[in-house]
Amino acid sequence: MTKKSPTPTLRLLALAAACVVCGTATAGEVEVLHWWTAGGEAKAAAALKATLQGKGHTWKDFAVAGGGGDSAMTVLKSRVVSGNAPAAAQIKGPSLQEWAREGVLANIDDVAKAEKWDTLLPPVVADVMKYKGNYIAAPVNVHRVNWLWANPEAFKKAGAKVPTSWDEFFVAAEALKKAGIIPVAHGGQNWQDFTTFESVALGVGGNDFYKKALMQLDQGALKSATMEKVLTTFKKVKGYTDKNAPGRDWNLATAMVIKGEAGMQLMGDWAKGEFVAAGKVPGKDFVCAAAPGTSKAFTFNVDSFAMFKLKNDANVKAQKDLAAAIMSTEFQEVFNLNKGSIPVRLNMNLAKFDDCAKLSSKDFVDTAKSGGLVPSIAHGMAVPSAAAGAMQDVVSQFWNSDKMSAKDAMDKLASAAKSK
Ligand code: BGC
Repeated sequence: MTKKSPTPTLRLLALAAACVVCGTATAGEVEVLHWWTAGGEAKAAAALKATLQGKGHTWKDFAVAGGGGDSAMTVLKSRVVSGNAPAAAQIKGPSLQEWAREGVLANIDDVAKAEKWDTLLPPVVADVMKYKGNYIAAPVNVHRVNWLWANPEAFKKAGAKVPTSWDEFFVAAEALKKAGIIPVAHGGQNWQDFTTFESVALGVGGNDFYKKALMQLDQGALKSATMEKVLTTFKKVKGYTDKNAPGRDWNLATAMVIKGEAGMQLMGDWAKGEFVAAGKVPGKDFVCAAAPGTSKAFTFNVDSFAMFKLKNDANVKAQKDLAAAIMSTEFQEVFNLNKGSIPVRLNMNLAKFDDCAKLSSKDFVDTAKSGGLVPSIAHGMAVPSAAAGAMQDVVSQFWNSDKMSAKDAMDKLASAAKSK
């Protein structure tokens, strides 16, 4: 038998162990706020921890459970207000600018320059990581949100075909229902409702509509016949979810698809992290497909760590070492293999990645050229947090209400979009 070379995870762990004795005067501590507590997420977070420890520093875990990060952001605000910010926090998209404007983020441009981040990152990502031209955050990945996850066994039982349009989606949902399978695994939490809504908006309305309504917050697009159709289609999806959906965590919804209790889930590719952590193989045990009607589009969601201003020199050094390590090829590989996302660093070798990741990578590049690459509104990438939060609330009210018409929802959504 040939001796296998250690996996990237093992290599990082070995490095971390070796550094138990390499503690030097410069060893610092980095407290890291994140919300990665589900199976695949936790494995990815462990890779981050091992990477930092590999540099001889101490990791202080600050995990706040809750998919989508709404709870984590609430906790972060109170910590910063009380003058006790963590060293690094998972903050994304326009929120990075909001935090930078408060004057609490550190300038990590020296790290970015030394490591040549400008040449290693797609410009669409690099721009978001900078405030007034200086890097204030380090990106770890690119998640694609517009995915549909399906259980092929369940589809076979139902004699259904994995849908590529919303019409086909409801045909498949009916067939799954007749076969006694829950058609759609859903978790009734605001951010999950909004995630589904976003994919419906993209699939039903198309790329230009998505840009007008959910990026530019154009009042005309928000109150259009297309938006009414989007809302009606979105609400129709609810009819194919089960009665236990309210409040369910996203990873438990994914588990229903893994077990074949449910046929499909609309969710970003952190769901793949769950399938993979459960030992499932894409193409065999589960299927990844673009959400109906969205194969020529890509809603991106880039996780990043904002660095807060710190006083202690050793901790500043540790923080910068973390930022540098995050962009290394070794970290980008092991982290993203576990997280379900693709590396944010350009020109990486994807040999170890599965077909879903390879498709994601190809579509990321293709849609960047065709104009179909759009930021995810449900995951804080598209509009300021006040508007996104208010719109998310309206979408959930509509999802949960038996009385609100699509027209009413549309008006409420348009005024929520004006929130500042
Ligand atoms: C984050 C992912 C995370 C997911 C579920 C998203 O907003 O970008 O990293 O896995 O929420 O918690």
